Amino acid sequence: MIGARRLSGVKSVQITPRILYFGTPVVILSTLNPDNTPNLSVLSSAWALGQRVILGLGVDGQGILNLERTNECVLNLPSSQMWESVERIAPTTGRDPVPITKQKMGYRFEANKFGIADFTPLPSATVSAPRIAECPLQLEARLLKIHAASPPEDGFCIVETEVTQVHAHTNLVIPTSGHIDPSRWNPLLYVFRHYFGTGAELGRNFRAEA
Ligand SMILES: Cc1cc2nc3c(=O)[nH]c(=O)nc-3n(C[C@H](O)[C@H](O)[C@H](O)COP(=O)(O)O)c2cc1C
Repeated sequence: MIGARRLSGVKSVQITPRILYFGTPVVILSTLNPDNTPNLSVLSSAWALGQRVILGLGVDGQGILNLERTNECVLNLPSSQMWESVERIAPTTGRDPVPITKQKMGYRFEANKFGIADFTPLPSATVSAPRIAECPLQLEARLLKIHAASPPEDGFCIVETEVTQVHAHTNLVIPTSGHIDPSRWNPLLYVFRHYFGTGAELGRNFRAEA
């Protein structure tokens, strides 16, 4: 009966929003361009399953081209305080010329995304793409498979990656266990095209490690 009591007075309506970004962490994907310069692609369609991270990527971006060619990347996770740097690279693409689809949305070409975001590149241990030093969590990963979306003409693909090395800022890590202390990690969330951080902890899962 507790559930029913909570619901008293709450009603739903049927709606048709144009976007369904219900709140996922922001990931900045680093990849290498054909000339070996780095590209950064801001994403939020990303989730982890064991050592895999699955990404949803637009087929008209530079990130997917680089990933397909090099088979590797770094998934850099910014903290919520970094949202303005993220937004500085948001209207850009590393793809030149800018595809018509992106031009229509207001994107411009940018060759130096590290520079305009004021990020510092760091060499990776297992992949050629650089890490972003400012991001508290950096996941090096290799490409396992690119799955076409259905229908493929929708312009997206589903990318399966496997994490090969994790780097974390030391202030997030519990020294005795090497686990991330979730109370110190404040991911940047993308919620219906607005940026949010997380609030205070609500509780813990029965399998929580930290
Ligand atoms: C917060 C945020 C989240 C985004 N999420 C995605 C995403 O999940 N997948 C995607 O393909 N593009 C996403 N985009 C759009 C890409 O950042 C955009 O297409 C960009 O031009 C990609 O860069 P690239 O062409 O250099 O790869 C997102 C943008 C922002 C600002």
